[in-house]
Amino acid sequence: MTRTLFTNIGLLVTNDPDVGAGITGEIKDAALLVDLGRIAWVGTSAAAEVAGGFDIDHVIDLGGRCLVPGFVDSHSHLIFAGERSADFEARMSGRKYSAGGILSTVAATRAASDDELRKRLAALIKETQAQGTTTIEIKSGYGLTVHDEERLVRLASEVTDEVTFLGAHVVPREYRGAASAGVRLLRDGELGTREDYVDLVVGPMLDACAPFAKWIDVFCEEGAFTIEESRRILEAGIHAGLMPRVHASQLGEGEGIRLAVDLAAASVDHCTYLTDLDVAALARSETVATLLPGVEFSTQQPYPNARRLIDAGVSVALSTDCNPGSSFTSSMSFCIALAVREMGMTPAEALWAATAGGAQALRREDVGRLTIGSRADLVELIAPSYVHLAYRPGVPLVRRVWKDGELLT
Ligand code: NIG
Ligand code: FE
Repeated sequence: MTRTLFTNIGLLVTNDPDVGAGITGEIKDAALLVDLGRIAWVGTSAAAEVAGGFDIDHVIDLGGRCLVPGFVDSHSHLIFAGERSADFEARMSGRKYSAGGILSTVAATRAASDDELRKRLAALIKETQAQGTTTIEIKSGYGLTVHDEERLVRLASEVTDEVTFLGAHVVPREYRGAASAGVRLLRDGELGTREDYVDLVVGPMLDACAPFAKWIDVFCEEGAFTIEESRRILEAGIHAGLMPRVHASQLGEGEGIRLAVDLAAASVDHCTYLTDLDVAALARSETVATLLPGVEFSTQQPYPNARRLIDAGVSVALSTDCNPGSSFTSSMSFCIALAVREMGMTPAEALWAATAGGAQALRREDVGRLTIGSRADLVELIAPSYVHLAYRPGVPLVRRVWKDGELLT
């Protein structure tokens, strides 16, 4: 397929305010031309007729349905083994989420072969694509040895260009020895202290993983890594040619958001607990605030206040954070519905955040919008408008998905 004209699009979301209405750049009764996997023309059906004579190989009639850019899921932990539904069940009866659960997924992931991990990842990728996700970031972080982290970034790089090295997810069990007054009290099987683990992350682990990754991330939170450790790890990653992004303020207020801004991170993710200083720092920066409402749904924490961020002028992205512990959803539509219902976002803001916002959080200009030259990553909804994504929560509204102009599902 080379040149394809999409016609009879009831509502087209371009995310280009110069060609259509509002922040989502909407065009009613639209047409769109795809040439060799890229957008070659957008406009109204009437204008397409006037332009006439497009030399085309195919016509796809959308029957008045809505066409939106493919979702850009800029935060996922898609590569792991095992599952933690028992933890979820306990949380729904009042138990608190704790970062400690990560270690059970680490044990299952270390025990899995490359082929097992590859198969599980392929199934999850298929699941995301069927729901309209055409670009996805994938983090390591369930290996936590040089060998296992290298495996995870390598396997992730087989399915996406957006690979993040997250060796600093938590300190693994083997490095939880006491480190008081320089005396090491190591038990059997322990390799050292948390300081030794940070040395490993910024040394041999980073060396092994950097060739497969674009990003470096750290879980900067009580129970994970301190602000000083986080800065050291992110700076080492930057030195190795990776770009920084940060997990911060998921479980409580902290200095992680300001660290992210200070290091000009592309994105700081979670942002559930925000101080006025955090909001002001983000507003003055190019750092995107990526909100992950699947986490609040699944941990029964308060939802982040998107309205406060948007009103202050912060760019907001929405993402699934798909992982077996805090948010085992791969559905961007579900996140949009939560953002509209619980976080003060309009449907247009939520859709923008799940597409153009995600692209900005990954510093990508070729995805997240449907303008001339962008990738033809398209989602056809069984609905006249994207408002239905929030209005009809839980309903599978994605009809067809194209990536680089090729039909996926
Ligand atoms: O983004 N916060 C840190 N990491 C994941 C949770 C990982 C897990 O619980 O397995 C998150 O929520
Ligand atoms: Fe995460």
